[in-house]
Amino acid sequence: MATDRQPGTAAARPFPDGVPVLVDPAGALVLRAHAPSDAADIVSACRDLEVIRWTTVPVPPGGYTLSDADAFIEVVAAGWASGRRLTWVIEAERAGRRRFCGSIHLLDDGFGQCEVGFLLHPEGRGRSLMSTALRLVRGYAFDIAGFEVIRWRALPGNWASRRVAAAAGFVFDGTVRRSLPHRGELRDAWVATLTADDPRGSTAWTDPPTLQDRRVRLRPLAEADADRIVQACSDARTRRWLVSIPQPYVLADALDFIELTRESAARRTGLFWCIADPDDDRYLGSISLEGFGGYSGRAEIGYLAHPEARGAGVVTAAVRLVTGYAEEQALVGISVSSSGVQVQAVGSAK
Ligand SMILES: CC(C)(COP(=O)(O)OP(=O)(O)OC[C@H]1O[C@@H](n2cnc3c(N)ncnc32)[C@H](O)[C@@H]1OP(=O)(O)O)[C@@H](O)C(=O)NCCC(=O)NCCS
Repeated sequence: MATDRQPGTAAARPFPDGVPVLVDPAGALVLRAHAPSDAADIVSACRDLEVIRWTTVPVPPGGYTLSDADAFIEVVAAGWASGRRLTWVIEAERAGRRRFCGSIHLLDDGFGQCEVGFLLHPEGRGRSLMSTALRLVRGYAFDIAGFEVIRWRALPGNWASRRVAAAAGFVFDGTVRRSLPHRGELRDAWVATLTADDPRGSTAWTDPPTLQDRRVRLRPLAEADADRIVQACSDARTRRWLVSIPQPYVLADALDFIELTRESAARRTGLFWCIADPDDDRYLGSISLEGFGGYSGRAEIGYLAHPEARGAGVVTAAVRLVTGYAEEQALVGISVSSSGVQVQAVGSAK
């Protein structure tokens, strides 16, 4: 059992020669020890705004420099020597050669628990490199280093990181308020956990699929839709029938709503789409299927149209697409609820 062990006792290795090289069987990447020649790439990764936003890389006056990268490599070496912090370079193809594309670490918290952290160089993103790296580190943590639990923590809203954790099988636990030190303050943290006994696959994730006919394109909502959502939700007719929306309805409400649509998809409790103009992608309205995660196989459909889009059949077209999708997903019933009126439609509305 690892539960009585002290931080670092199981994983100390001489740096760099003792650092285990973890090889992706599909050949996309290798995890290896840091080298002085990685310093310039570390600098460009640590100057990236997404990395600064979501991680705690230092932000010295004038920006991150080569001397910061050299100091970081010394910290990495000390981490391996003590076994407290195990950090690898993610080496993969970038700009025509294999080189530093990011880093990933395990921080030993003692008692068999460790915390994972990672970042990718901007040019390494969008290729599932981090999901692959995390799966390799998962195997090392459980099968070689003998950890019992790996924890993932992130600032709320870091969907790319949450997707990576889900792809490696982490189970989302929720939000722990004011638990993550970040640039001088304690921020809320998203937390997910993987235990040595959990399945080694991926945690299921449902995104709203893009659905299209000649009149509308249904796609996930995005921040760019927020202004038109505010217009739609400030309209008198919308407010008459959707009585529970905030009044007055401001930009922050629209952004909260967009975030809620992502949370619903991640938790598989509901799917929300933007009803977009197929020509210019303009927000014409919203449509949702909620509650389909339950045992009954039933969902509730909800929708609203932007005032400019009314009377042109766009919501009817959207309902056809969504009920068709629901039918494919083998939902047996869809209900429409509007201020006390509830209509149950079994099968599709086609
Ligand atoms: C987090 C990070 C490493 C993810 O890198 P990435 O290249 O997007 O990772 P992957 O290519 O493995 O993508 C994982 C999945 O997330 C999805 N994804 C990426 N950005 C997303 C976003 N903003 N919203 C939702 N999903 C997103 C990808 O489409 C991909 O899905 P798929 O596997 O179904 O195709 C990278 O964005 C990064 O370095 N961010 C800055 C540092 C950081 O946030 N570190 C983590 C701190 S907790």
